[in-house]
Amino acid sequence: MATTNTSRGILNSIRAEETQEGAGVRIHRGFPTRNFDYLDPFLLLDEMGPLEFKAGQSTGFPDHPHRGFETVTYLLDGQMEHRDSFGHHGRLNSGDVQWMTAGSGLVHSEMPGADLVRNGGILHGFQLWVNLPKRDKMIAPSYQELKASDIPTAATPDGSVRVKVIAGESLGQRAAIGTHTPILYLHFTLQPGAKHVQEVPHSWNAFAYRVDLHEFTVFAKNGDTVELTNPGDKPIDVLLIAGEPIGDAVARYGPFVMTSKEELYQAFEDFRAGRMGAIPA
Ligand code: CO
Repeated sequence: MATTNTSRGILNSIRAEETQEGAGVRIHRGFPTRNFDYLDPFLLLDEMGPLEFKAGQSTGFPDHPHRGFETVTYLLDGQMEHRDSFGHHGRLNSGDVQWMTAGSGLVHSEMPGADLVRNGGILHGFQLWVNLPKRDKMIAPSYQELKASDIPTAATPDGSVRVKVIAGESLGQRAAIGTHTPILYLHFTLQPGAKHVQEVPHSWNAFAYRVDLHEFTVFAKNGDTVELTNPGDKPIDVLLIAGEPIGDAVARYGPFVMTSKEELYQAFEDFRAGRMGAIPA
């Protein structure tokens, strides 16, 4: 009996919504939108920019809290500087990844880096929010930070498909980052005419984001592979993100994502009482 690998169909493909976040940063939002709340275990996908900064301009995401999930920042271009209420401070340059587990909560700021503010230039990147299972929501905050050069990469022998493996595994390469639930986060570059078939476990939710078109595509759960193709005449960049659903209830409000209203109230209360700390001025 032959085994068949069925490729998933496309459930929905939309152009990401252009909107503003933080202190007026232009973003393209894949979700949440009015019609699409979340795709378990993923809660949000924002493309920051691409934005052209003038020298001296410093528009970003000033002090704000998070609790109950993880934020994954992947900078394609530019520089970002982050600080948190536990004294953590770092800088992301082009190609770097910061996988921040907010867990029980912190206050942080995400601002353009000093070089970008001084010289001006392009800021372009992604932020993905990954939910934590109820059992992990109150774990201590932590970071996994990867320089661009530390992110495993792979390519097909003819070079028509290249991948940066941020989470999970692709083309025989395994990511350096550990996740609380199984997740795939892959950045593909496809040459014109290229095609890639990526294995994605049957039960996982999966979506793609085509960077040049700001196009957000959700795949049906009707197969164990996802097919990516480039029908055009220029190379394209596509993020393929997939994960095992957590299955817990989702109660979300702004920067807090818990499993019940009571836990959300507690998060607000803890934030107001200063229990998530503050960033020294
Ligand atoms: Co944040």
